[in-house]
Amino acid sequence: MTGRPETQDQPKALLGRRILLGITGSIAAYKSAVLAREFIKRGAEVRVVMTPSAIEFITPLTLATLVGSPVHSDFTENKDSGEWTNHVELGLWGDLYLVAPCTAATLSAFVNGTCSNLLQAAFLSSRCPVAIAPAMDLDMYTNKATQANLKTLSERGVQIIEPQSGALASGLEGKGRMEEPEEIANFVEKYFTKELPFAGKKVLVTAGPTEEAIDAVRFLGNRSTGKMGFEIAGRLADLGAEVTLISGPVNLTTPPRVTKRIDIVTAQELYDRTVDIWPQMNAAIACAAVADMRPSTPSTEKLHKGDLPDSMRLENTPDTLLELGNMKTHGQLLVGFALESDTVEESLKSAEGKLKRKNLDMIVMNTLSDDGAGFSHDTNKVTIIQNVDGHNTTHVFELKSKREVAKDIVNLLTF
Ligand SMILES: Cc1cc2nc3c(=O)[nH]c(=O)nc-3n(C[C@H](O)[C@H](O)[C@H](O)COP(=O)(O)O)c2cc1C
Repeated sequence: MTGRPETQDQPKALLGRRILLGITGSIAAYKSAVLAREFIKRGAEVRVVMTPSAIEFITPLTLATLVGSPVHSDFTENKDSGEWTNHVELGLWGDLYLVAPCTAATLSAFVNGTCSNLLQAAFLSSRCPVAIAPAMDLDMYTNKATQANLKTLSERGVQIIEPQSGALASGLEGKGRMEEPEEIANFVEKYFTKELPFAGKKVLVTAGPTEEAIDAVRFLGNRSTGKMGFEIAGRLADLGAEVTLISGPVNLTTPPRVTKRIDIVTAQELYDRTVDIWPQMNAAIACAAVADMRPSTPSTEKLHKGDLPDSMRLENTPDTLLELGNMKTHGQLLVGFALESDTVEESLKSAEGKLKRKNLDMIVMNTLSDDGAGFSHDTNKVTIIQNVDGHNTTHVFELKSKREVAKDIVNLLTF
């Protein structure tokens, strides 16, 4: 084992999440500062967009200081220079667009698709989930128009964070007070842990090469960088899975929401750690490039140049993927990788053989005969063979970045 520590399990639901915080012209806007700070405290990245009337309630300077980036409130940032704020870019930036507080006026604008300010434009161009925390006076809230607007938005998939009952700024008592910032942050955290497609699922991802010692400093290895496995682990974690990443020696940072990383060096260590935790997992994506052979009698000392043998006895390493396939129980999903160097037809035949032999549900095949595919690139070109109820389906993909390939692979997973 390396001396690198394993990362500890910790709540990471908001870590690295991008939250676009929209603020509208309600008296509750002062609470948005506390909310922004709460998100930052929980590890999220926050950008703020405000309506022109929100600026009457709380200054952009306060929010910009809290979140560490400029606040957007106008289509044109600097009218003299002709600079403008790209609302489409804003709408695409976030993992979640949260409008808190959301006034009755903005609620109505969202329902009608009005685009008269930057916050509304960002709503129309957002591709991420949207949540709103309404805040208004009791009678405004219970008004049929408001209730109908809330129902319409809810039916369109917008998450509504119910307002609370209590003393209102108008002096009245009743429902309409924006939920407290800490509770809104809890709601968002829960959203990221519970509502995502792989929430509650445990996934094991293996990545990188293994190294098999010849002596104290030399080893047999391969050119795997680990990038493909790390992208897959990151993607699964982004979609809510509890990911354990077992990695060979690589020079990569653990993706932010991966729950646990275990560093290994040899094929034996990979086998031991993987087999140990596989029974607790819902799925395993075995992306590591494991050495098939290792020197039978490695030296614990560094051999001098003159003492190096002309030939070396090798022995098989344990076959982790085969063992995972043997152990697999009903409901577990097992994905393997095959790096081939033959013609596409031969490679496919070989990958299909591996899928069957190792009892896999899916195999991701790439071949060295495709430019830009394989180990030492940031791109990959894969063909995926999926086995469902004994029938194989083949999916052929174009050359893409490994991040995009990871999305294609993860899109095909059902467990
Ligand atoms: C002191 C004060 C407090 C207000 N509070 C609210 C509120 O809590 N909810 C609301 O819907 N409107 C409230 N309004 C009215 C909105 O500011 C007004 O409808 C404005 O046009 C909203 O614009 P916006 O949604 O684009 O920010 C308040 C107005 C004032 C002057």
